[in-house]
Amino acid sequence: MVNEPIPARGYGRKVAVFASGRGSNFRRIHAYLGERGWPGDTICCLVSDQPDCQAVHWAREQGIDVHVARYSRDVPRKVTETAIVDHLVPLAPDLVVLAGFMRLLCGPLLDAWPGHIINIHPSLLPRHPGTHGIRDSFESKDASLGITIHHVDHGMDTGRIILQNSFRRDPAEDLEATEERIHRMEHQWYPLVVEALLSPGSEGSIQ
Ligand code: GRF
Repeated sequence: MVNEPIPARGYGRKVAVFASGRGSNFRRIHAYLGERGWPGDTICCLVSDQPDCQAVHWAREQGIDVHVARYSRDVPRKVTETAIVDHLVPLAPDLVVLAGFMRLLCGPLLDAWPGHIINIHPSLLPRHPGTHGIRDSFESKDASLGITIHHVDHGMDTGRIILQNSFRRDPAEDLEATEERIHRMEHQWYPLVVEALLSPGSEGSIQ
């Protein structure tokens, strides 16, 4: 009887990250995959709608492939998204990770990677969806604040929730301190969720 070799850990899975600004979550995911992730897992592309943002500059410094998506009033969103899909298909990402990408997806991407597109939002959804999740949470009377990592659908922060993490509001903390605390929480949890979803057999859900 021939002994089958034990398969190596890691399958060279690929992640496409979408970001529009600072890109701190993008950098954390990149670092995590490089240092602690499954061997061979990498970020195959950064997609951005902002050619001059920090995330794009950093990706270029690292030699990561960058695709700048041209969103414009004159171009239907489907055309822009189809161009993103055309760029990503040959790179074959296993997971699409939105990390501060300030555009709603309209169809082609959702059709190309159904169930494999995730987003992070800095509030306890369904509380405070939208652009100002931290400020809106801070200004609310909610006793707990936190983060949500969720699947992406056509809506604004409406997809199925994968993970939430919360903390009790500290009345001594101002908005800036709250922001820092939420970002620390994002940086801790987003790479772990990405990694879990890349694990063999996860099929887009965490056990
Ligand atoms: C994060 O707070 C994320 O929750 C939200 O956008 C912000 C992106 O921050 N969707 P960064 O660009 O990763 O620093």
